[in-house]
Amino acid sequence: MHSIVLLVHPEKVRASSIDYRRTFGLGGMALLLFVMQAITGILLRFVYEPTPVGAYDSILFIKQEVVFGNLVRNIHHWSGMLIVVIVFLHLLRVFYTQAYYPPRRFNWAIGLILLVIVILLNFTGYLLPWDQLSYWAVTVSTNMLEYVPVIGGWLQRAIRGGEEVSGPTLLIFYNLHTGVLPLALLILLVFHFWKVRRAGGVIVPASKSKKKNEMIPAIPHLLEREVAAGLALMAFVLLLSVFINAPLLDRADPAFSPNPVKAPWYFSGVQELLLHFHPGIAVFGIPFLVAIWLFSFPYMKPEKRSAGVWFYSVKGRKIVVTAAVTSFFLTTAAVICGEFLIDFRRWLPALPEVVSNGIIPLIIWGILLFAMGLFIKKRFHAGRTEMQLWIFTFLTIAYIVLMFTGIFFRGEGMALQW
Ligand code: HEM
Ligand code: HEM
Repeated sequence: MHSIVLLVHPEKVRASSIDYRRTFGLGGMALLLFVMQAITGILLRFVYEPTPVGAYDSILFIKQEVVFGNLVRNIHHWSGMLIVVIVFLHLLRVFYTQAYYPPRRFNWAIGLILLVIVILLNFTGYLLPWDQLSYWAVTVSTNMLEYVPVIGGWLQRAIRGGEEVSGPTLLIFYNLHTGVLPLALLILLVFHFWKVRRAGGVIVPASKSKKKNEMIPAIPHLLEREVAAGLALMAFVLLLSVFINAPLLDRADPAFSPNPVKAPWYFSGVQELLLHFHPGIAVFGIPFLVAIWLFSFPYMKPEKRSAGVWFYSVKGRKIVVTAAVTSFFLTTAAVICGEFLIDFRRWLPALPEVVSNGIIPLIIWGILLFAMGLFIKKRFHAGRTEMQLWIFTFLTIAYIVLMFTGIFFRGEGMALQW
């Protein structure tokens, strides 16, 4: 046991690094959830049948006949949802403690790919119960692919294994879900952890305190905390799974689409964007620009470093709060105006839609963000890292508002409703 623990931890760690407030144990929790997914997933595989005729019945069989089947399915469902949230919180923790500068820069990029794989794992799993919820959620989500320029149509057919979501789609998703994606995640995770160790463990702010800089043995000090956090997490998932069943609606019916049809919750922000922008901009343009920024900003030259300090500086904290509040109100206002007031398509009928309802609103948003950025820079005398805090917080809150709007405030025909 001792040597297994030392495979992932150094013999001694800095005393300040085991404080819960450094990482909140989020990376470790994500790992534990993945292990739980792998174990429950392998158990489900013994009974699950990846065919349109058999899938739904096999889920019913798991729920009703298999000993502890319902519990295992619930654990797989809830920890599958939780892992997306925890990995995202881990990303926030890494970002807000600036753990993306060298020597951790490349690990940030690996992390972004890990996030994509976790979301794909959840998405491919979503289809497997083959009920009305999963069938139509995957149908609307894969419909979005059509708008990716040049390769969109091909990509959509490749993922669906044909024109519609049908038997081949289920088989493709099943193989990705239980084979390709877990393997890819596992390989990248090994690399991820190796990079954490090579960087000398998690980031901690420089300190003159002798007590904080003291090196203490990882066993038992770090291990004790990890076990405590792990047990608390498992208890939480277990309670959730005992009391709340994973949803299962009627058997999938390709001929009858419910109204509204919503994408899985983590994609509902993109679905919401689709209601406001030309699809090419909503599905490809905006996510592409954000992804380029996320991968590239750690490559900007770091300035005077206070790495490891939450929100970088006192100024940084104020900027984060300002960005969060502004983004919340501005995005909410934009959603409401987009629904009731603004209609570029009607105002500029002579222009192609991709210009009137795509490029023009995008440029207006770009100018607005730039002007706000300039204001923040002047008002707070913000440096480069503080401006990154501003952009990141603004975008994150904007996405969360869009996502919640999509989940809770869209009704029949995707109309806005209270
Ligand atoms: C991070 C990793 C994973 C995530 C996020 C994830 C997520 C999901 C989700 C959301 C579902 C639908 C559950 C439902 O509502 O019924 C599902 C189903 C399923 N998953 Fe996973 N999963 C993961 C890993 C795995 C692995 C490693 C395996 C097997 C090797 C697996 C096997 C299955 C099977 C057989 C089903 C169909 C049974 C069912 O829907 O209850 N999963 N997964
Ligand atoms: C399945 C997904 C992931 C798992 C299991 C995982 C696991 C971990 C663990 C255990 C650590 C060390 C302890 C901690 O920080 O809590 C860590 C550190 C790190 N992770 Fe992740 N991670 C995942 C996804 C991500 C994502 C999405 C990002 C960012 C885009 C990321 C970036 C980093 C970075 C830069 C570090 C080093 C942080 C530091 O030195 O303070 N990881 N990860």
